[in-house]
Amino acid sequence: MINALVVYGTRYGATADTSEVIAGVLRQEGFEVRVVDAKKDKVQSISEFGLVIVGSGIKMGKWTKEPEKFLGKYQKELSKKNVALFVCCGSAKPLTEGEEKIREMENGKRKYLEDKAVQYNLNLIALGFFGGIFDFNKLSWIMKKTLSGVKPKLEEAGFKESKSDIYDLRNLVTIRNWAKDVAQMVK
Ligand SMILES: Cc1cc2nc3c(=O)[nH]c(=O)nc-3n(C[C@H](O)[C@H](O)[C@H](O)COP(=O)(O)O)c2cc1C
Repeated sequence: MINALVVYGTRYGATADTSEVIAGVLRQEGFEVRVVDAKKDKVQSISEFGLVIVGSGIKMGKWTKEPEKFLGKYQKELSKKNVALFVCCGSAKPLTEGEEKIREMENGKRKYLEDKAVQYNLNLIALGFFGGIFDFNKLSWIMKKTLSGVKPKLEEAGFKESKSDIYDLRNLVTIRNWAKDVAQMVK
């Protein structure tokens, strides 16, 4: 049996839930999986893991701190392992149209994933570029004010509230298929 580690950092919950979805698929595929919220728990060693997946949510163009610390700490060991990165972010589901939409997606993918792979010298087996969650209940009043234009744009783009003031822009089928592909590559 292959041991897999999923390490993530989240602010609003999308990356935590996505990590559990990925872990669920890997378990179905026969992996033994440990999921770690890097903010709450420290990984002491990665020697037993044949697959390491690292994920983060994006806020103001930035990953969460802790998964980046993990990448820095284990950079050398990770270079010899099967490693995949994923992010949950708005740029994967831009509210713009046409060329601007394509540009936003390309920029996001490069900045949040490809640049990280270069920065930490990772030889990745997969990059997951997934949508995020806008949970307006979790925002401070100043953020609510700053992002007040987003809600009508989400509605305009056809996104519906999954619960009151929560918009989930992820596609769970895409995420599950990605996890299945990763499992096949490692098996
Ligand atoms: C205050 C705020 C700032 C954000 N900034 C960005 C950003 O710079 N780029 C982006 O692609 N998405 C951005 N988003 C969308 C988030 O990436 C999305 O909410 C995602 O779910 C965050 O991951 P998390 O839920 O795991 O924290 C932002 C969302 C909020 C609420």
